[in-house]
Amino acid sequence: MFARNPIDRRLRTLAALAFTLASVALHGAVDDPRLINQIEALKRLKDTDLATRPAIRQALLRVLDQVRGQPVFVELVRDFRLRDQNAALLEYALANSADASALDALRALLASDGSDLLKSALTNSIQAGQLIEPLGKTADNRAAPLLLPLVNDRGRSVDHRRAAVQALARSQEGARGLLHLAASSTLPTDVRLLTATELNSVRWKPIQLEAAKILPLPAAKGDAAMPSTAELVHRSGDPRKGATIFRRPEINCIGCHQAMGEGIDFGPNLSEIGTKLGKDALYESILDPSSGISFGFEAWAIILRNGDEAYGLLASETEDELVLKLQGGTLQRLKKVEIANREKQTQSIMPSGLQANLTAGEFVDLIEYLASLKKPVPR
Ligand code: HEC
Repeated sequence: MFARNPIDRRLRTLAALAFTLASVALHGAVDDPRLINQIEALKRLKDTDLATRPAIRQALLRVLDQVRGQPVFVELVRDFRLRDQNAALLEYALANSADASALDALRALLASDGSDLLKSALTNSIQAGQLIEPLGKTADNRAAPLLLPLVNDRGRSVDHRRAAVQALARSQEGARGLLHLAASSTLPTDVRLLTATELNSVRWKPIQLEAAKILPLPAAKGDAAMPSTAELVHRSGDPRKGATIFRRPEINCIGCHQAMGEGIDFGPNLSEIGTKLGKDALYESILDPSSGISFGFEAWAIILRNGDEAYGLLASETEDELVLKLQGGTLQRLKKVEIANREKQTQSIMPSGLQANLTAGEFVDLIEYLASLKKPVPR
């Protein structure tokens, strides 16, 4: 109705034009015709050796001063291979981190020995959050030594460490570095599955083949590789079939978890797990239980003075006694004076590889069932 009226349509076109102009002005695009001419003239001179042409260098610096913070600034710095603008390049990349032009700024920075500057920016958690992803998108090998130390830095949030893994997998040096971490067993468990997924799909064949050996993707029933979580979350399954799979003896979820009043009280109660975790997190909690151990459900290994060992969840603790909850749900009381050593484990008690007893379709059914276990909506 609105669009059919020709006057309305013309008004709308005008409004759109006004909007475009306003947003150009807001984003500080260059609109001074003299400045535009100067920039065009400079662009044609980009192969000039500035050391022998001080007048051009002067003109360039004057223009740069006026366009600082705009994409053309990055373009000029890059094209003239200026080495003394690194701080401004970093500032540009931080201010425009969601924009493709940030990648040009970062590439120019990496090309002009800006690694130290980037390294110190990455020690700042906020700036790291702005830089990790675009650094990865440059796919520049020189970003790899900057990002690699983040992956196993326990002082970093898991989000930043995961972003670093994804960023690294975009360059060959980065992918190689990840492979090296995995091979030397220094890859933290909470990014292991993600690293496996990323490295098993890189385009550098030797790295991919090596990754398939040392970081194999989780297997499905019958030796097929399980499709990636990214793919599985888009499938839908049958929650009723999933409920019977949950109770199958060879999988035995029910031997460690309660759901809707049934099962053994050992691991977390799953009656409302569909409210707590999204499907991707549900897949991950089975493919890689150690990646995010639920608080209070960490495993403890205990060695007694007489040489006996005990292994279970810590149910409670007093001044002189410690109660372990063993698999199957029984409790074991231990006098503290009898304990020689106790150690919290980084591996979950929940075994990994349970999906290897399932086809991809059965796995999808099982997750559909878990996703359906929701907190009742109050009426
Ligand atoms: C040997 C016992 C054991 C078995 C078998 C087991 N789990 Fe677990 N599960 C645990 C424990 C302990 C935890 C808590 C530690 C952790 O998060 O890894 C857990 C955690 C989970 C979580 C995350 C819960 C949360 O609140 O974040 C889910 C989901 C889960 N298990 C589902 C399953 C399913 C589905 C199966 C069957 C395929 C299964 N588990 C089999 C012991 C077990």
